[in-house]
Order: sequence, then structure tokens, then C-alpha cells
Amino acid sequence: MSRLTRMIERLSTQQACIDHVARAIAGQPGVVLEIGLGKGRTVDHMREVMPDREIYAFDGFVHAPPAAVPDDDHLFLGDFRETLITPPDHLRGQAIFAHADIGSEDRDADAVLAPIVGERLVSWLRPGAFVASDRDLKVQAWQRLSVLDGQPWQYFIYRT
Ligand SMILES: C[S@@+](CC[C@H](N)C(=O)[O-])C[C@H]1O[C@@H](n2cnc3c(N)ncnc32)[C@H](O)[C@@H]1O
Repeated sequence: MSRLTRMIERLSTQQACIDHVARAIAGQPGVVLEIGLGKGRTVDHMREVMPDREIYAFDGFVHAPPAAVPDDDHLFLGDFRETLITPPDHLRGQAIFAHADIGSEDRDADAVLAPIVGERLVSWLRPGAFVASDRDLKVQAWQRLSVLDGQPWQYFIYRT
């Protein structure tokens, strides 16, 4: 499979997952977290399908176009291991959806990072929140949902 086909499959799966969760949380209170701002593609889509949500984004550094970069109050820069460790008081237990798009081409490094991100995310989430990720976050207490298992790219959707 070409890299182009893989990219198309990945992006269409991400879109389906975000759209699914956006519908599932409609009417429920809570903020949204984007772990892995990257080039700002998925956060921009989240803004479009969840226009009334406050969205907070995380990354090691900014490499998205300016229009996709949240303002300073909604942006956490630095290693996820540090920026996720302690939510500020106003965000503790407040996220209804966390999208963790953290994968790289180094699967071994991702396998180390993903459970750390999962463990760190717990204190940010509301009861019944949704988490979607391109890597298995391995949080035992979360229920893995199979609702989008038919998508062309593997994605992990959990309910807390
Ligand atoms: C797959 S990309 C995100 C793509 C993005 N969601 C988009 O739609 O453009 C993963 C991002 O995670 C960031 N990242 C990976 N490991 C990180 C870490 N330990 N701490 C902070 N950022 C990290 C990378 O800088 C990269 O931007």
C-alpha cells in the first residue's frame, strides 16, 4: 500500500472518529483536548464540527499554520509527559473528549509514550468522556468501543 493511500485511510478514519464522538457528546458539557496539534488538521476539523466547544491543544512545538493555532490560553507547549501531568484547576475533570493523535513512524517509541499519555489524561476527563487515539493508550479502567472498527485505519475509541 502506498504512503498516499495510507495517509488517505488515516485521515478519513480520523474524520469518522471525530465526527462520531462529536455526535455522541452533543448536549453534554465539557471541553475538548487535542493531544498532538501537529499541522492543525484535526483540531481545525474539531472546531468545525464542535463550534461551541472550548478546545485545548498540546504539542512539543508549534508547526501548524497560524490560523490553526489556538490562543495562548488554549495551548500547552512542551513534552506531553510534562504538560499533561497536572491539569490546571479549571480543567481538572472537565474534558468530555480527548483526541490523542500522537503517533509517529517509530512504533517502539509510540508504544512507550502512549500508556504514559493515557495515564496522564485520566485526571483531565469527565466521567463518561470519550477518548480517541491513533495508538493504544492502555488504560485498564476505560472501555474500548468497537463502534468504528470497520474503518480502514486502526483507531482506538474509549469511554471512561
Ligand atoms: C501525528 S502528529 C499530530 C497531527 C495533528 N493532529 C494534525 O492533524 O495535524 C503528532 C504530534 O505529536 C507531537 N508529539 C509527539 N510526541 C510528543 C511528545 N512527547 N510531547 C509533545 N508533543 C509530541 C508531534 O510534535 C506531532 O506534532
